[in-house]
Amino acid sequence: MTQEARLTIDTSALRHNAAILRDSVDAERVMAVVKANGYGHGALESALAFEAGGVDWLGVVDLDEAVALRRGGVSLPILSWLHAPGETFERAVQFEITPGVSDLAQLEACAAAGVPAVHLCLDTGLSRNGAIEEEWEALFDRAAALEREGVLRVEGLMTHLSNTSPQDDGHQTASFVRAVGMLDERGVHPPLQHSAASAAALTYSSPRTAMVRFGLAMYGLSPFADRSAADLGIRPALTLAVPVIGVKAIAAGESTSYGYTWRAERDTRLALLPIGYADGIERIASNRVRVLLGGRLCPVVGRVAMNAMTVDIGPDGGADSVAVSLGDEAVLFGDAAAGHPTVADWADATGTITYEVVARLSHRLPRRYA
Ligand SMILES: Cc1ncc(COP(=O)(O)O)c(C=O)c1O
Repeated sequence: MTQEARLTIDTSALRHNAAILRDSVDAERVMAVVKANGYGHGALESALAFEAGGVDWLGVVDLDEAVALRRGGVSLPILSWLHAPGETFERAVQFEITPGVSDLAQLEACAAAGVPAVHLCLDTGLSRNGAIEEEWEALFDRAAALEREGVLRVEGLMTHLSNTSPQDDGHQTASFVRAVGMLDERGVHPPLQHSAASAAALTYSSPRTAMVRFGLAMYGLSPFADRSAADLGIRPALTLAVPVIGVKAIAAGESTSYGYTWRAERDTRLALLPIGYADGIERIASNRVRVLLGGRLCPVVGRVAMNAMTVDIGPDGGADSVAVSLGDEAVLFGDAAAGHPTVADWADATGTITYEVVARLSHRLPRRYA
C-alpha cells in the first residue's frame, strides 16, 4: 500500500530557499548539504534544485553519497567528510569529489591517490570527526609540505559548531582562528574556511571570505524554536499525504490497534491510513499528532503500526464529523501556509527535532517532484 503515499517535493521551494539563503549571508560561498538522501527529500533532485538556486558547493557525508550525485549528473563541487578506515580515495579522484580529511592517514591516502585538493577537517569541540588540537601541528606540517611539493592543495578548512550557546560557539571559533594562524605560519592559506551550518549562519555574521553550509534551512525548515520558516522567508518543500483506504464505525469503549492504547469515548468513525513505522513514521507519534483530513485536523488514535495508522474522524453526521470517502487524501505534514500540520508540529509532539522527522522518511516512499 505504501505506493499510494504521496511524498511530494516542491522543487521551486528548494530553488527559492537556495536563493533567499544565499542573499541572507555575507559569506562568499554557500554550500547546500544533501546528505541522508537530501534530509529525506531526495539527494539528487534536491542537489539539482539547489544548483539552479545558485549554491556553489554540495556537502555529503561519504563518498558513496557523492558518487551517486556525480552519476546523476551533478557538476557542482562536492565535499564529503566521513570516511571508512582504509579508504583509498581513488573514487574521489575518478569522480572529482573533494574529501574533508580528519587525520594524517586520510591526508596521506589522498596524496597517494592523486586527489588534487582537500579540506582539512578540525574538531574544535564536538568530539566527532576532525583532528583534535594536539594533532594539528603534525597534520598542518604535512599538509604544508604536500602543498609545497605540488602534490595537493589545501583548498578548505572546516569545523562544525555545537549550537550550544554563543559562548560555546565562541570557544570553537577561537580555536578555529588559532588553526588558521598556525596554517598561515606554514604558508598555507585555505581560500575556503567554513564552520557555520544553518543556525550559526543565520545567527552570526560570517566573514565575507567564508563559506557557510546550509542543510535544514535549504529544505524550508527553521533551525530555531522561536523563528518559523515564514519568519526566515523560506518555504517547506515536502508534503506527505496518504489516501484513506478504509472507514469504520466503532462504538464508545471500543479501541483500535495494538495494546488498545486509546478507547473511543463516544460512538465514532475511524479512517485507516496505509502508512506506518516501516515508512519512517515514528511509533511514538501514536495518540500525539493530527493530520489534515476533510478540511479538519483529526487526531491519530491508537498505536501507529508497521504499515497502518488510524485517525478519529468523529461520528457520522455529528457536529465534529468529517465527510470522508475512500481515496480522500490525509496530509500528515506540509506547509503551514496551506493549513497543513508542519514537520515542526510533529517534532514537538513526538519529542524530537525536525531533522529526524524528515531524514527518517523511508526510501520505500516514492518521491514525486513538482
Ligand atoms: C559538517 C556538517 N555541516 C553542515 C551540516 C548542516 O547542518 P544544518 O542542517 O543544521 O544546516 C551538517 C549536518 O549535520 C554537518 O554535519
